[in-house]
Amino acid sequence: MAAVRIEEVVGDFVSLRKQGQDFVGICPFHDDKNPSMHVSPRLGIYKCFVCDAAGNPVKFLMEHEKMSYPEAIEYLAKKYGIPLEYERSESDEERQQRTLRESLLIVNEFAQKYFMEQLRTTEEGKLMGMAYLKERGFMDATIDKFGLGYCPDGWDNFTKAALEKGYKEEYLIELGLTGKSQSGKLYDIYRGRVIFPIHNDAGKVIGFGGRILKKDGKDPRKYVNSRENTIYHKSDTLYGIYFAKNAIHKQQNVYLVEGYTDVISMHESGVENVVASSGTSLTQGQIRMITKRTQNITVLYDGDMAGIKASMRGIDMLLEQGLKIRVCLLPDGEDPDSFAKKHRDSELQDYLASESKDFLLFKADILSKEAGNDPIKRASMVNEILKSISCVKDNIERAFYVKECAKLFDLSENDLNLNLRRFVWEKTKEQGRIAQQQQQQQVQQQPSGADGPVVVEEQGVPHLIDSTKHPDLSQQTDLLYEAEKDLILLMLNYGNLIIYESSENEEEKSQGLRVDQFICNEMQKEDIRFHYPLLERIFDKYVDWASYIGNQDQIIRNFTLAEDQQISEFVIRNIPVEEPKYSNRWKDKYDIHTHTTRNNIRILQNQVQNIILTLKLRILENDATIIQKILDQEGLAEEDMMMALQQLNTLNQLKKEISKRLNRVVSR
Ligand code: CTP
Ligand code: MN
Repeated sequence: MAAVRIEEVVGDFVSLRKQGQDFVGICPFHDDKNPSMHVSPRLGIYKCFVCDAAGNPVKFLMEHEKMSYPEAIEYLAKKYGIPLEYERSESDEERQQRTLRESLLIVNEFAQKYFMEQLRTTEEGKLMGMAYLKERGFMDATIDKFGLGYCPDGWDNFTKAALEKGYKEEYLIELGLTGKSQSGKLYDIYRGRVIFPIHNDAGKVIGFGGRILKKDGKDPRKYVNSRENTIYHKSDTLYGIYFAKNAIHKQQNVYLVEGYTDVISMHESGVENVVASSGTSLTQGQIRMITKRTQNITVLYDGDMAGIKASMRGIDMLLEQGLKIRVCLLPDGEDPDSFAKKHRDSELQDYLASESKDFLLFKADILSKEAGNDPIKRASMVNEILKSISCVKDNIERAFYVKECAKLFDLSENDLNLNLRRFVWEKTKEQGRIAQQQQQQQVQQQPSGADGPVVVEEQGVPHLIDSTKHPDLSQQTDLLYEAEKDLILLMLNYGNLIIYESSENEEEKSQGLRVDQFICNEMQKEDIRFHYPLLERIFDKYVDWASYIGNQDQIIRNFTLAEDQQISEFVIRNIPVEEPKYSNRWKDKYDIHTHTTRNNIRILQNQVQNIILTLKLRILENDATIIQKILDQEGLAEEDMMMALQQLNTLNQLKKEISKRLNRVVSR
C-alpha cells in the first residue's frame, strides 16, 4: 500500500486536475457537474464534497469497479508491479469457489483466450476468422490489442473445452456463451463467428460480440451479443473504453461511433479516443462514464439524414449533462470504419479536426434548410432548437446560440429569448420537482449518520460513579461523542506540533511539548477515558503508531488503510482534505521565534486546552445525568440517596469550575 498513489488509481478512471496540493475531478459516484471529488496524495484518500463518497485506493476500486477486496489488491499489485504471494496456489476448482462475479470473469477470461487461440492456431480459425479480419484490413497488432478471436463452427467445441477445464455449465449459460436445446444438448452460441471481446474500463472482459462471417441465411443475426448478466450490463458499457481511457484524458475529447469495427479502424488510423455505444443511443450510465473523463464529445455520423435526425433527440440529453457536443458528418455512405480504411491516417485526423461542428449550430443549420420557406414548419423548428438551447447550462453560451439562431432563421434575438425563457423555466421547474422527489426518497431511506454515536459503552466514568452499572442512563451521548471525536481529530491533525504548557510566566514556557503528548498527559492526570469504543481503539492505535512513526501524514495514511474498516472509515470521513491550518512544516518554513509562529502556537495551544476542557465538562455532564436518573428512581435507599446527592453536588461544583476556565480560554 505504500507504493500505491491514490491520484494514479483514481486517475485511471477519472480525469483529474491539479489544484494546490490536491487533485479535483468530476465525481463518478453521483451525477456531478462540477468537479466535487477531491483526491489528496498527502492523505492517500479521495473525498466527494457533494455525495460523501470517500475512501482509500482499495475502497475506490471496490466501489467504482465493483471489485471484490482480493480483486482490488490484485489490481493494485499488477499496476505497481508488486508480486503477490498467495498462501497457497489455487486450483481451478478453488477459484470457482470465489464469488459469482469473480468466477464469471474468470470464465470470460478463459473464453477470450480460447477464441483468440482458435483464431491464431487452428486451420479453421486461420482460414475463416483470420482471413475475414485480414480481408477487412485489420493489422495483427490491432487484433492482438483488442483480443479478437474466432469460435469454431461446430456444435459445441468451445463448450466442451470449457467443461473439460472444469468451468461450470451454469456459468457458461449465465454468460450467454453456451445455450441449451430443449433436448438438453449444450451448444456454442457464438459458433462460426469472429469474436469481439468487450472490456470494462478496468480492462476485464465482461462480454462478447460475435459477428457472422457467411451469409447463408441460416442465422440472420449479424451480431450476437452477451445478454445481461451479473457482470455485463449493456447500459453501463461502452465498447473500447479501456483502450480509449488515456487518449480521452489527454485529448479531452471522445469520439462516439456506432460499432465495434468503427472503434478498431479508428485506432488503426491513430485515433484512440473513441468509444462505441453499440448501435443504440447513449444511456445515462454510459454518459456518466464519459463525463467523468471529459466534457467534450464528438459524435460521428455517417451521411445518412434519416439516421442523423433520429439521433438528434438523444443528444439533448447529453447537453443537459453539461457536455459540450460536436458532430462530424462523414461523406455519404461512409461509416468511420470504411472512411478510415480509405484514407491515410493524417487525412482522417484532418477531416475530424476540420469537419467537427458545434452540435447546436449543426442542428439549426440542418433544420433551417429542411424547413425551407414554410413559415409554420420554420416556427416549430425554431422552437425545437430553442428547446435544445434551453438544455445548455451556461448563460453566456446560451446567449451565443440565440444570436446564431437569430441569424440563421432571420428572427430577432428578442423574440427567440422570449420563447427560450419559457423553455428554461419549464426545465427548471421540472428539475426542481425531480430533486424534491429524490430528497424525499433519501430522507425516507437514510437511517442515521454513518459515523454518529452508535452505542455508548459506559466504562468507569471518572471520579465519582461507576456508570458501567447504569448503561441505559446516559443522555449526553451526542455532545460527549462530539467532544471525544474533537479530541481524536485534534490529535490526528496536530499531534506532532509543539506547544508549551500553559503557565502564567512567559519565561517558563520555553520547554516545548508535542500536542499528542500533552493530551496523553492530561488524560492520565485526570483519568479521562473514552466512552466510545471506536474512538478508544483509534486513540490506542494512535499512541502506538506515534511512538515510532515520525511523520504525521504517514500516521494518517496508516489509519486510512487500517484493516479495521470502522477505523479507516471514521478517519477518512472526518479528516479534512485540506492541509491543516497549522502547517506541519512550521519549523522548515519559519524561524520558530517569528511573530506569526508564536501567534499560531498560542492559538493552537488555546484550542487544545479548550477541547480537553470541553471533554471534561461533557463527561461531568454525562455523570450528572446518570446520577440524576438514579435519584429519580423509586424506592432508593436513604443512604444511597444521600450519597448520590453529595456526588451531584461535587459534580456541579466541578462543572462550574471548568466552565469558568473554558470561558477564559475561549475569550482569550
Ligand atoms: N449491432 C448489433 N447487432 C446487429 C447489428 C449491429 O449488436 N444485428 C451493434 C454492434 O455493436 C455493431 C453496431 O451495432 O458494432 C453497429 O452496427 P453496424 O454498423 O451494422 O456494424 P459494424 O460494427 O459496422 O460491423 P460491420 O462493419 O462488420 O458491418
Ligand atoms: Mn461497419
